[in-house]
Amino acid sequence: MKTPAIALRINNMDLKENIQLNRLPKHIAIIMDGNGRWAKQKGMVRAFGHENGTESVRKTVEACAELGVQYLTLYAFSTENWNRPKLEVKTLMRLLVSSLKKEIKTLQDNNIKLSAIGNLSTLPKKVHKELKEVIADTKSNERMTLTLALSYGSREELLNTVKEISIKVKNSIISPEKIDESIINEHLYTRNLPDVDLLIRTSGEQRISNFLLWQIAYAELYFTSTLWPDFTKQHLYEAIIEYQKRERRFGKTSEQLS
Ligand code: FPP
Repeated sequence: MKTPAIALRINNMDLKENIQLNRLPKHIAIIMDGNGRWAKQKGMVRAFGHENGTESVRKTVEACAELGVQYLTLYAFSTENWNRPKLEVKTLMRLLVSSLKKEIKTLQDNNIKLSAIGNLSTLPKKVHKELKEVIADTKSNERMTLTLALSYGSREELLNTVKEISIKVKNSIISPEKIDESIINEHLYTRNLPDVDLLIRTSGEQRISNFLLWQIAYAELYFTSTLWPDFTKQHLYEAIIEYQKRERRFGKTSEQLS
């Protein structure tokens, strides 16, 4: 049974070699979907899918750092996910804490900075505390920024932004005529991140699900039927290769670009 493994390795190497390192997406965002279906296919409970999903997180972070991707943002828990059964929410929170504890050394060894976006104050105290500690411990790392979207919803983020800017207008800190895209950017949770270049969603669903609506204005969208726990480095390379085939025109014509 050795041949398929060798073939896969060669295939993997080939895919990585097909990536143009000088044209990498600077910021990749991923909607990690399909953990539940993956577990169901195996006759297991949903938690089993989430547990295996953490391994895909590890591989993806590693692959992005190895390639030189500067920003990776993962949709780990949405504002809507609070409506899932209590036990599932508890499992996801437990996995977050255990992954943070387990991976802090890997983040440090690989010079990766952790950040988080979302309504973080709604997270259980234990998760919030662990998160804050890892963020503080890795704040000087420079190779890549890994951002976890937790209790995140794009509409909530935009609402929050509108409220914050309105208060500043009311207090004469900002004049309404001065409000432009950069002021909005500065008030989003993602104020320290560049726009998304490549958005990947696994599991075959083709929707955005309230993720980074403002920030993906010019992102290339990539949908794969692979379920998140099956997502490997090879799948990430495939997405990047597809991204590099696309012509990003930002509203201009092909002729203008060349
Ligand atoms: C979607 O699958 C996945 C999630 C809601 C959570 C993603 C969480 C992890 C991968 C584990 C922990 C994360 C980190 C960052 C360590 P789904 O449950 O919606 O799957 P389904 O659509 O098949 O039901």
